[in-house]
Amino acid sequence: MAERSRFPLLIVLPSLICALLAFVVYPATGNSPLKPPLGLPPLPYTSLDPAKVQLGKLLFFDRRLSFNNTMSCGMCHLPTEAFASTQGETAIGIEGQSLPRNAPSLLNVAYQKLLFLDGREPDIDTQPWSPILSSIEMASPSVGYTIARIRDLPNYENLFHKAFGDRGLDMETVGEAIAEYEKSLLSGNSRFDRWKYGGEEAALTQQEKQGFALFVGKAGCSGCHLVGEHDALFTDFKFHATGIGYKASAMAPPPSYQVELEAGVMTKVEEKDLRTVSERKHNDIGRFAITLNSEDRWAYKTPSLRNVALTYPYMHDGSLRTLENVVDFYNAGGIDFDGKSPQLHPLNLSKEEKASLVAFLKTLTGDQKATLAPPTGSCLAPASDHDANAMRDRQC
Ligand code: HEC
Ligand code: HEC
Repeated sequence: MAERSRFPLLIVLPSLICALLAFVVYPATGNSPLKPPLGLPPLPYTSLDPAKVQLGKLLFFDRRLSFNNTMSCGMCHLPTEAFASTQGETAIGIEGQSLPRNAPSLLNVAYQKLLFLDGREPDIDTQPWSPILSSIEMASPSVGYTIARIRDLPNYENLFHKAFGDRGLDMETVGEAIAEYEKSLLSGNSRFDRWKYGGEEAALTQQEKQGFALFVGKAGCSGCHLVGEHDALFTDFKFHATGIGYKASAMAPPPSYQVELEAGVMTKVEEKDLRTVSERKHNDIGRFAITLNSEDRWAYKTPSLRNVALTYPYMHDGSLRTLENVVDFYNAGGIDFDGKSPQLHPLNLSKEEKASLVAFLKTLTGDQKATLAPPTGSCLAPASDHDANAMRDRQC
């Protein structure tokens, strides 16, 4: 009798202890709990897996994921430019092709509910396949092609097994790994945060404080670029028409242009002649293309203004070059058309007020720079726009 009852206990007890140990040890080794930087809301996830983040980072910067080994995510979302790109009005893709839109910053992208400026993608885990498959971005001919390509590259399969166990390398795990890395791209603790949420009175100048008062007051900016009591993402995650899209798509082009042939020599070029030699501009109707709701015509997602000093040029089409241009644009009440947001109207800001508003926007640069360095290696990210241009012509 005694022999029989002791036997199961010998088996049960050690496995119980192992199970308890695994439970206690797992969170400390596998996942680390995260605290957002000062000024950011609680994170929309409870932990990040370091093995997935590391793998996602390699994929994000690896130019061999594109059809001709030239483009990576990191060449349009540059770490030195707050994960946006500043080189032209809109991003430049494979073989120098222009994209219809400006590349937005990926800092704090984890908080976004709908991705892309028209909100067409609700899932950060599947989003990476859009640029990989787009013929003007990374131009992969198919999902299977890219999976096979990654499988052929040294070490990746091993890293996928470390990060995902038996799931290994497949369409979902590629997206999830890149997304896990993107979720680690957090940026807060700007001078504004230290002043507003950290109680550091001297972190902002008088002029910058006046700019903030205008931002949440007379200028009405915080009606869409929200600022909370405890944190701020400077966006309502909604879609609004400021008139920028209307201007680009709907205003008739002038019948002719004055063109300077050489210094002092001007000539007139008819619009209809120009059209035969230049590409017609893509007709971008914004959120309307996704919802087919006429109220969404030329509406775009409110961008976060964190790091806005680094992410020029501005608006979905990059048509405003500087923050001064943006403030002038809002001061005029945006661009009038039937569907313009009712929240926009002329502001009558004085020269000093406009300067204060710009000064305030420049305080929103976070302190992320040091921690977000790209990996090194010949197929991995460029350090600047200048390198990105040269690298696009060269396979790795
Ligand atoms: C050729 C330039 C280019 C490349 C390469 C590129 N992107 Fe982008 N990215 C853009 C542009 C432009 C947009 C805005 C497009 C739109 O709204 O339609 C964008 C938007 C995004 C967004 C949405 C952000 C938001 O706030 O809504 C995410 C996320 C993103 N890209 C991640 C990636 C990842 C991951 C890769 C690599 C797999 C990548 N991008 C490769 C140019 C690029
Ligand atoms: C009605 C809502 C609304 C209000 C009010 C508003 N904005 Fe915006 N803001 C937007 C939207 C939407 C965009 C994106 C437009 C686009 O992409 O064409 C934007 C874009 C911007 C950008 C460009 C960011 C980038 O990365 O391209 C800046 C800077 C900006 N707003 C600052 C301000 C300031 C300063 C004010 C106050 C004077 C203000 N906004 C008022 C909705 C608003």
